[in-house]
Amino acid sequence: MNSIAARLDRIFGNAAFDKLLLINTTQKDSYFTYLTGLYAGSFESSILIADRKKALLITTVLEYDVAKRSCPKEIRVVAAHSRGKTMELLKDQLRNKTVGVNGAFIPINLYRRIRKLGKPKRMVDAGKALAGARQIKDWPEVELIGIANNIVKKAFSKIEGSLRVGITEREVAKEFDSMMREYGADAPSFDTIVCFGRNAAVPHHVPGKAKLEEHSFVLIDAGARYAGYCSDVTRTFIFKPDRKSDKYKRMIDMYDTVKEAQQIALKSIKPGIRCEVPHNKAMEYINKAHNGIYKGMFIHGLGHSLGIDVHDVGPNLSPGYKEKIQENMVFSDEPGIYIDGFGGVRIEDDVLVTKSGGKFL
Ligand code: GLY
Ligand code: MN
Ligand code: MN
Repeated sequence: MNSIAARLDRIFGNAAFDKLLLINTTQKDSYFTYLTGLYAGSFESSILIADRKKALLITTVLEYDVAKRSCPKEIRVVAAHSRGKTMELLKDQLRNKTVGVNGAFIPINLYRRIRKLGKPKRMVDAGKALAGARQIKDWPEVELIGIANNIVKKAFSKIEGSLRVGITEREVAKEFDSMMREYGADAPSFDTIVCFGRNAAVPHHVPGKAKLEEHSFVLIDAGARYAGYCSDVTRTFIFKPDRKSDKYKRMIDMYDTVKEAQQIALKSIKPGIRCEVPHNKAMEYINKAHNGIYKGMFIHGLGHSLGIDVHDVGPNLSPGYKEKIQENMVFSDEPGIYIDGFGGVRIEDDVLVTKSGGKFL
């Protein structure tokens, strides 16, 4: 069974619908990529209608050839030359069926139109069935996330060579993105974050015109997208440190504390453990370090699911997530300490959950 057939099988496992319908708008539904493998191209207005064994892709003449060449054999591809043809296909596929849609994606006006044109018996939200399948990665997905992860790490291994006094955050972000492309990325997986000095205290700072100075924090949070899959990695450096200064000692202590918190979290990532546990362990370690000097300074969740989307379908490693961690989930592990007016440290790596526990990619 190839991976698309296996994905359909998982989605339809206990599904309360006979047909699954995904429709793109000007945005591509990431489940469309999940099921067709079509990660490039916009496929605007394309419709995928699947059942347990096979699927029909209704696309436009613009992308018919690409789809025909790239889709797996379970997917029959047709080009609809007119609205009339699309209506005919919809009626043929959906009439009197219970049709599942991605309720988190389909706009209400399209939902109504499909209901009117396709005349299904019922339309239901397939969100749970879709997420249940996708939050567990299969082998091709793990491999692609691994490649995306290698690309961003290669860029990290080179970027320090580009840092010089006076370079701006924006220039570093641009350089980082171009390195990722050089190493094989299709694109950055999100807008690269570069923070100098005290800007590192803002977790999602937008890189601007700040110039790099000696003895400063450099925090870079970036990811590569490769064949539809994302990586998400953060590194914090100290640029031209003054190793004798108190500032340096403080910076290094923050770094070491975050690094240890990340390891503590990693060790608790295991199948069967509640998703909130690794977060709570990292938080507790940071809050208690040196009698509480960093208490309350780890201000966000420890991690999130990672896959086709950088914040992917699936649970977060955050307070309140009682779901159990499962084998072959992929998460980020990204504790941080943020000190307003001074700077911040975040270290982020991507973790595959194996039978025996979490492993950094
Ligand atoms: N890059 C955003 C995040 O780490 O979640
Ligand atoms: Mn990140
Ligand atoms: Mn992240």
